[in-house]
Amino acid sequence: MIIPKTDKKNIVIWGFDNKSLEYYYALLELITDKNIFICNYVSQFESESNSLDRKILDYDFTITLENVFDMKNDVSIIILNDYYNKFYSIVELGWIEENNIQIIPHLELVRIYATNICNANCVMCDIGTASKKGIDKLRVDTENEIPISTIEKLLESPLLKENKMKFSLGMVEPLIHRDIGKIVGLISSKGHSVAVITNGILLERKAKELIENNVDYVMVSIDGTEHIHDKIRGRKGIYRKAINGIKRLHEIQPNMKVVINCCISNLNYGGLYDLIKGIENEKLNVEVRFQHLYFVSKKMADNHNSTVEDYRLKQTQSSIGEESIATDIDFYVLSQQIKKIKRIKLNYISSIRFRPPYTEPIELSNYYNLSGQPLEGLDKCFFPYNQVSIKTNGDVVFHTRCYNYVIGNMLEKDINDIFNGNDANIFREILKKNKYCFCACTRCCGIMGGW
Ligand SMILES: C[S@@+](CC[C@H](N)C(=O)[O-])C[C@H]1O[C@@H](n2cnc3c(N)ncnc32)[C@H](O)[C@@H]1O
Ligand code: SF4
Ligand code: SF4
Repeated sequence: MIIPKTDKKNIVIWGFDNKSLEYYYALLELITDKNIFICNYVSQFESESNSLDRKILDYDFTITLENVFDMKNDVSIIILNDYYNKFYSIVELGWIEENNIQIIPHLELVRIYATNICNANCVMCDIGTASKKGIDKLRVDTENEIPISTIEKLLESPLLKENKMKFSLGMVEPLIHRDIGKIVGLISSKGHSVAVITNGILLERKAKELIENNVDYVMVSIDGTEHIHDKIRGRKGIYRKAINGIKRLHEIQPNMKVVINCCISNLNYGGLYDLIKGIENEKLNVEVRFQHLYFVSKKMADNHNSTVEDYRLKQTQSSIGEESIATDIDFYVLSQQIKKIKRIKLNYISSIRFRPPYTEPIELSNYYNLSGQPLEGLDKCFFPYNQVSIKTNGDVVFHTRCYNYVIGNMLEKDINDIFNGNDANIFREILKKNKYCFCACTRCCGIMGGW
């Protein structure tokens, strides 16, 4: 267990489940000169399925939010296990600043750029299209594949040895990596969970390798019915390849969790219902997630650049290429598609979600408005407090879309020192000053909860 760094006398664990309790007891053993509590205010948000004994709320170590504020200026908070959504309103009310509460970063998710190259050419993607502009700049001048030695070094870090993490292999196209199975196996053998996000082109061929190495789940991107998908992704026949890949996974392991991710854009918004019908017809036992396009418009980039000084935080327009045009959407039609999908009776697909969960034309047109005004209830990013992305050359960024801000290099320093280092903390400070959302952040996955 890595001891959290803080000068404050009181540490509050924000999160209330069995894992938080385990964490509490571990901290208690390690830290003797500070008071450690769990904030039971969080529990008020808990669902009925909470398995914790409710009596635990009476114990001495649990405190209320009011108690937290009583510790004025002398409290830091560690947020565990996706409790950020429950933390949002506290930040929104300005209580964090008012009470000078420090948020202690706590790494929970590591995203790996397994490769730096792609075998598709999706028009809406600002990562894989090799335009050498916009967010694509993050791929320039780095190695094509992450070396196994980088993964080994990462896993040897005390931070990862002593804490179980979530890993996501989703960049740029992970299945191109010649040793992808070995990478999955190395990570899973240390007790971490591993997800793979893929365009599915190589899935049929690599399904066995992933399963044999204990992948936890696979997310496959499918953006429309056969013709639409192949057109968006720039290669004929790849819809069929993705579908066959999912079938292969289920042939080998029938209960393998598969999530289909569909990126909604001007190129497919009228065919979402047909996409669902197509997947049902294929009898695929999957979850489906629709995600609205992430973008940085010119206006958003200009506003952003006029408010940030650090050159590493500058942003360029993205995702609005010649064909992928955020504004070229009939929001009434999109709204009807969403409503129709919500009414559909399904035999194979186990769940369908929309992110953000908008249904009405007004909400949708607001989302796609190029001014990129912050969205109500979705205007704070806490990614820099709980995750990192590691590029093929070992550079560490908080996330693909986090500007050009490298917080360190894995080959030179331990991941814990990078995650808690000076550059990382400077970024967090500037983000906090910007109320946890830069102008170019408003349509980023960090704000929406991310993949
Ligand atoms: C960048 S890809 C990387 C993994 C893999 N190459 C794939 O296509 O699944 C991760 C996910 O981002 C989605 N995506 C690409 N461009 C996007 C955009 N502008 N907005 C939202 N999602 C996007 C893709 O469809 C995919 O589901
Ligand atoms: S396959 Fe994935 S990384 Fe490649 S261009 Fe498409 S969305 Fe981007
Ligand atoms: S929303 Fe979060 S992840 Fe996205 S660019 Fe902003 S700080 Fe980075």
